[in-house]
Amino acid sequence: MEQYVERYRKPTRILHWVHAGAFVALFLTGLILFIPQLGILAQDSWTRIIHRIAAVVFIVAPLIYIPMNWKATLEGIKGAFTWGTEDLGWLQAAPRYYMLCDEEAMPPQGHMNTGQKMWWFMVLVFGVVFVITGLIMWFGKTTAPAALLQWMVFIHDIAFIATGVMLFVHIYMSIVHPIVRPLRTGAWSSMARGKVLVDYAKSHHGKWYEEIASAEEVVDK
Ligand code: HEM
Ligand code: HEM
Repeated sequence: MEQYVERYRKPTRILHWVHAGAFVALFLTGLILFIPQLGILAQDSWTRIIHRIAAVVFIVAPLIYIPMNWKATLEGIKGAFTWGTEDLGWLQAAPRYYMLCDEEAMPPQGHMNTGQKMWWFMVLVFGVVFVITGLIMWFGKTTAPAALLQWMVFIHDIAFIATGVMLFVHIYMSIVHPIVRPLRTGAWSSMARGKVLVDYAKSHHGKWYEEIASAEEVVDK
């Protein structure tokens, strides 16, 4: 019998996928606004309307999730901002681990490894940047000083380029790279079904597995 351990609860998974959907819609409509040659696709301003609808989803989804999941939110933020010796070990081992799939090289990681913490950090920081600059562009279009609006567009664009690049890295490192597979029992399973195989938890997040192994029940298939 295959044995699994819970990694992401259902509300967290729903937030992830709703947020990811909104982000991808914002990214694609933003891309059309960003590249003048794609302007032909933006006729009738439908891209602007979808950008605004997706922005509302992007803002409202965490506002609903956070008060209902205080504990998980705080644990997530604490995990992302708590750095220790295993992070130094991750940085040293990462080239061998990701290029040669040498699992022995990697010291035991917590619930999030250092690469995942970096993505979390970007999502939090740039999420706030997107919301502030986006809302000023949206509601200050006719009232805010022109120089301020120009700065907001510039900062919004920097955030777009940085997170856009990292989104591809995130997708590759979460579902494509051989080290996070197989899909049915590895990283994809954690966000799709909420659980990973015990062996996967031990080899990829050994420190986290040690912490929960005594407290949490391992679930059968
Ligand atoms: C659209 C394609 C996406 C796919 C296929 C995807 C897939 C995944 C998977 C499989 C995980 C679990 C990784 C693990 O625990 O080992 C994950 C985690 C996570 N995802 Fe995504 N994701 C996507 C988009 C996004 C977007 C757009 C955001 C942010 C707005 C995001 C934010 C996160 C965060 C913060 C985590 C937890 C930390 C981490 O594991 O990196 N994801 N994602
Ligand atoms: C979450 C809150 C967000 C809000 C409120 C927001 C709002 C806006 C607004 C009002 C505009 C100006 C559109 C126009 O000309 O009418 C804009 C442009 C843009 N947005 Fe967003 N946005 C948000 C998030 C995002 C995200 C997550 C991305 C990409 C990942 C993104 C990428 C862009 C791009 C590339 C432009 C074009 C800027 C330019 O003209 O150079 N936005 N956004």
